[in-house]
Amino acid sequence: MELQLEQLRQQCVQCQRCSLCQTRTNVVFGTGVPNAEVMFVGEGPGQNEDEQGLPFVGRSGQLLDCYLQAIGLHRDKNIFIANIVKCRPPNNRDPLAEEWEACMPWLRQQFSIIQPKIVVCLGRIAAQRMIRPNFSVSKEHGQWVEKNGVFFTATLHPAALLRNPIQKPIAFEDYVAIREKIQQICTHTYSSNTK
Ligand code: URA
Repeated sequence: MELQLEQLRQQCVQCQRCSLCQTRTNVVFGTGVPNAEVMFVGEGPGQNEDEQGLPFVGRSGQLLDCYLQAIGLHRDKNIFIANIVKCRPPNNRDPLAEEWEACMPWLRQQFSIIQPKIVVCLGRIAAQRMIRPNFSVSKEHGQWVEKNGVFFTATLHPAALLRNPIQKPIAFEDYVAIREKIQQICTHTYSSNTK
């Protein structure tokens, strides 16, 4: 599994399937443990992520890490974090349909290797691509949708919470519900034996 994911990463960092390859500094493949039962999916890299080649390393990433820590999750221990698009859209605009369509096969392959039991969509773009095209994060965050035995949910994007901090407690409830779901259906996320 580890080897498969590494092989996929090596292919992905050379990707030229859409024009974002011309403006990126680094492909942001994703980070975490290969046997994660819980996967978080964001929208796409911002400037910091593009520079470092890692997801969620800017201010919104710091906030995400706080929420994760609060429910016993850590990007290097028991989850995997990826994005809908692996390369930064210029000026952080929304990814275009042709960009996310070109990029989705990478995420699908990450899914088939990692085989998560729970997928948490961070924000509208991820929720609409992963759950339903007309999914409303503001109205439907925290709800669970089961597809082929995998449980999907969405919460507010951490960048949106930085812009609108009054919503932080609402998002925290989503994380508490994620912890409960993990306790119900995951076998090793909360045990020390993550390998
Ligand atoms: N926002 C995202 O959606 N993904 C990142 O990796 C960073 C910020």
